[in-house]
Amino acid sequence: MKIRAVYPGSFDPITNGHIYIAQRAAAIFDEVIVSILINERKQGSFSVNERLDMARASLSHVKNIRVDSFNGLLVDYVRQNKASVIIRGLRAMSDFEYEFQMALMNRKLAPEIETFFIVTDSKYSYVSSSSIREIFHFGGTVRDFVPDVVFNKLRERYNSNP
Ligand code: PNS
Repeated sequence: MKIRAVYPGSFDPITNGHIYIAQRAAAIFDEVIVSILINERKQGSFSVNERLDMARASLSHVKNIRVDSFNGLLVDYVRQNKASVIIRGLRAMSDFEYEFQMALMNRKLAPEIETFFIVTDSKYSYVSSSSIREIFHFGGTVRDFVPDVVFNKLRERYNSNP
């Protein structure tokens, strides 16, 4: 039986930390769908199409990863895609409370779906999309934390060149 997993998130933009988690998930599950939330209530820094393009470009080397977007409830999307696992990355204890609550809520909504946590590499433990955007915006260097496609997009967006 093939096991399909969904790795959901905002990915605004995708970072090397996300890529690390997606690759590790792809080494375990038959197929991983990296899926970007279309959040009507929260305008992102990058459009969903831009985020899809960046995620696709930076994960195209992994054959069993597909990049997609979704709206509505995550568990509905997981069921529609005949997946049985939700992947979430953990960076630090501070992530845990939010993730634990979300995993329990998703289990209540869909008991057959399992949330699977993957711990990040220590070199990404302090990397987040929001810190990347802010550091870049103020001229700091983010070269080690994002793939080239994201770095170039940040340069376009914020018109600076650290
Ligand atoms: O990268 P993020 O922003 O931490 O990802 C959060 C995400 C997209 C996984 C979460 O907000 C989500 O699943 N939203 C979809 C709506 C939903 O199902 N909410 C109930 C979760 S308890």
